[in-house]
Amino acid sequence: MRMTTLALVVIGSSFAASGAEAQMMQQPLYWRLGGTPAITAVIDDFVGNVAADRRINRFFAHTDIARLKFYLVQQICAGTGGPCIYTGRDMRSVHAGMGIKTRHFNALVQDLGKSLNKFKVPPREQRELVAILAPMKKDIVTR
Ligand code: HEM
Repeated sequence: MRMTTLALVVIGSSFAASGAEAQMMQQPLYWRLGGTPAITAVIDDFVGNVAADRRINRFFAHTDIARLKFYLVQQICAGTGGPCIYTGRDMRSVHAGMGIKTRHFNALVQDLGKSLNKFKVPPREQRELVAILAPMKKDIVTR
C-alpha cells in the first residue's frame, strides 16, 4: 500500500470510529466557538459588561474601546487556534502600572462568563477558554 493510500485509510477509519460529536471535539476551540463572528459578538457584549461594572470600569475610563475590542478578538482568535496573529502589545506591558488586583481580574472573568452564558457557549468550551486566559493572570495582576 502506498503511503498516501495508507494515510487516507487511517484518516477514513478515524472518522468512521468517531461520531459527529467526537469529530467536533477535535476541531480547534476557535471553530467550536463559532469563529470570528461569534467571538466578536461575545467580546462586544463582554466589553459592555465591563463598562457597566463598577468594580473595574474605572480602569477603562481613557481606553479606546474599539481598539480594545479589536485586539481582544484577535488575541482570542489566535489563542484558540484560529487563523489570526495577535499584533497587540504583550500582556505585561499593557497592564503595567495599573495596579490590577486578583479581585479585579476575577471580576473581569465573571463579566466574560456572563457573556459566554448569554451566547450559550457550552461549559466545555467556556472552561477551555478560561484555561487559555488564566495563565495571563501573572502578567496582568501586579499587586
Ligand atoms: C485574561 C484577562 C485579560 C486579557 C486577556 C486582557 C487583554 C487585553 C488586551 C488584548 C488589551 C489591548 C492590548 C493593546 O492595546 O495592545 C488590553 C488592554 C487593556 N486592559 Fe486588559 N486584559 C485582561 C485583563 C484585564 C484586567 C483585569 C483589567 C483591569 C481590571 C484590564 C485592563 C485593561 C485596560 C485598561 C486596557 C487598555 C490599555 C490602554 O489602552 O492603554 N485588563 N487588555
